[in-house]
Amino acid sequence: MKQHLTVVNHPLVQHKLTLMRENSTSTAVFRQLLREISQLLAYEVTYELPMTTREIDTPLRKMDAPVLAGRKLALISILRAGNGLLDGMLELIPSARVGFVGLYRDEETLKPVQYYFKVPEQLSERLSIVVDPMLATGNSSAAAVDLVKQAGAKNIRFLCLLAAPEGVARMKEAHPDVPIVTASLDERLNDIGYILPGLGDAGDRMFGTK
Ligand code: URA
Repeated sequence: MKQHLTVVNHPLVQHKLTLMRENSTSTAVFRQLLREISQLLAYEVTYELPMTTREIDTPLRKMDAPVLAGRKLALISILRAGNGLLDGMLELIPSARVGFVGLYRDEETLKPVQYYFKVPEQLSERLSIVVDPMLATGNSSAAAVDLVKQAGAKNIRFLCLLAAPEGVARMKEAHPDVPIVTASLDERLNDIGYILPGLGDAGDRMFGTK
C-alpha cells in the first residue's frame, strides 16, 4: 500500500456507517453492521497481498491458479473494541492468526500502559493488521503498533472504522511506515478525546455497556 491513509468510500461502507452513527441504532444492529462493514474494510486492507500460483485440476484441464503466498497473516485486536472488527474479518480470512493488545491509560501520566499482550509467532514473516474501530488521539494505536514492532512485525497495516485528523497525524509521526485504512476521516476530537461527529463510544455501543 503506497498511501498513508485510505478512506474507503464504497457506497455500502458509507451507508452502513451512517446507520452505525445514528444514536437510535440498537446494540444488536450496531454489532451486525460492524460485522458487515469489517468484511468490506478487510477486502480493502488486504489489497496487494503477495500471490503465487498452484497447479490445480479443474473438471476440464490443469491450470496454474492464483493463491495467497507466504505465512498466514496476523490480525491484532486492540482490546476491547478491536474485537468488534475482528469477528467479521475472521469470517473472511478464517486462517488468519490472531493477537491481542490490552492497554489502559494511566490517569497521572496519561500514557498508555500495557496489561495484556499475546501475538502469533514469526510476526516478522507475516503481514500484521492491527485493528481498532476508533483512531482518536492515536496514543493507544501508536503504542500498540510499537509493541507489535517490538515483537518483530515489519509489515503492518492499521484498520479502523473512524479516524480523527489528530490520530492520523499522531500515527504518521510515530509510524509513517504503517498505512491506515478507514471508512471515514471525521472532523476532529472534542475536549475529552471523542471523535466528532463520530458514533460515541464504540465499545459501549457494540457490547451494550451503557
Ligand atoms: N473511542 C471511542 O470509542 N469513541 C471515540 O469517539 C473516541 C475513542
